[in-house]
Amino acid sequence: MVAEEKKRNISYGSIFVFCFFCFVFVAEVVRFVKPNYDFKQNVFTERDVTVTEAIAEAVVEGSHFVMDSISPCNSRRSGLPRRKQHEKLEAPIGQWRERPPTTYCIKFESFRTLLNLVKDGKYVSRPFSSGGYNWTYEIYPNGDKRVGANGLISLYVRIDNSTLITNPQDVYAEIKFFVYNRKQDKYYSYHEPEAARFHLFKTEWGIPSIQSTANYLDPTTGYVFDGDQCVFGVDVFVAQPFKKWEVFSFDEHVNEPIFSWKLTHISTSFSDSYTSGTFTSGGRNWVLKVYPNGDGYGKGNSLSLYLLSESNEKAYVRAKLRVLDQINSNHVEKLVEGWPNAAENSGWGFEKFVPLADLKDQSRGLVVDDALKVEVEIIAFSKTDSTLNA
Ligand SMILES: *[C@@H]1O[C@H](CO)[C@@H](O)[C@H](O)[C@H]1NC(C)=O
Ligand SMILES: *[C@@H]1O[C@H](CO)[C@@H](O)[C@H](O)[C@H]1NC(C)=O
Repeated sequence: MVAEEKKRNISYGSIFVFCFFCFVFVAEVVRFVKPNYDFKQNVFTERDVTVTEAIAEAVVEGSHFVMDSISPCNSRRSGLPRRKQHEKLEAPIGQWRERPPTTYCIKFESFRTLLNLVKDGKYVSRPFSSGGYNWTYEIYPNGDKRVGANGLISLYVRIDNSTLITNPQDVYAEIKFFVYNRKQDKYYSYHEPEAARFHLFKTEWGIPSIQSTANYLDPTTGYVFDGDQCVFGVDVFVAQPFKKWEVFSFDEHVNEPIFSWKLTHISTSFSDSYTSGTFTSGGRNWVLKVYPNGDGYGKGNSLSLYLLSESNEKAYVRAKLRVLDQINSNHVEKLVEGWPNAAENSGWGFEKFVPLADLKDQSRGLVVDDALKVEVEIIAFSKTDSTLNA
């Protein structure tokens, strides 16, 4: 009885375990296959997405200007479902500008004639130069069919590849497209936040979905005026990579950090200030400057002490300045830290480094045998090196 019960338990248990593994197996298979499945879907829908995006753009544009708010694309948009991938595509930035285009402009005497002549193709401008390259402006008045832009205005620029063939390189250019609006007497501009990259295998760049051709042609919007005229413009700014740069570093392992300087016959000094000989510390040349009777607010009451960079370089410096106690080693020491703080000398130091009274006090040991010893210990300083990009 007991044995039989046990046996049944086991068989139920093994069925459960078997089912559990079946479930796990199916779940894993689904998980593995799904990304590939999504990927395929992406590939197949890309074309549709472009169209959806393009039309959505055109509708947004249209709603700006069409007073009766019936957008020419409305019916078509409802026929195309919006897809998730849509969010990945960045819409161009659009804004009004009064200033005319900088690089190139094309005026068409009759936009309708252009449409008739070009049909589903493109109008190619004469070459113009910008940033050391030759370019053409390409206008699809009825949409760039290669990307499925139907009934839209598509604008492109193309770089002349002859320069790129002899000198293959990437050319980055900031591109802005303009359409003139007579009603506003302004240009509506379209651009993308990133500069466009051109190279031998990618010589054109543009925006296929400027706005719908129907909206553009609608006389109430103001883009086509005086019969059938219209104006397209473009800015092409070639962005040259930087040629000059600076490197800011902070050297905290200064070699030969300490420099001492002895000034004799201090009581009979006639000069306002004395400058030491040049010394090298951390690979840079420095000098010390002493005003025995004070400088600035220290005049007449203190000795002033500065560290100066011989080449007058502005750096961030951390250093200890000292007037040495020649008897007890009870030195007067002050830490200077920062950018040059001495207006006149553009150095680092103190107008009131040590009171003159302390210097006269024999017991302090700061002046012995009419001689003064000053010292600097350079702890760290910044370097800014300018370099030419190779
Ligand atoms: C641009 O075009 C002009 C005229 O065709 C030509 O003389 C010039 O060399 C071209 N410049 C470049 C950089 O390709
Ligand atoms: C350069 O451009 C011309 C005209 O667009 C094209 O016919 C030619 O194949 C291009 N050459 C290369 C090497 O891409």
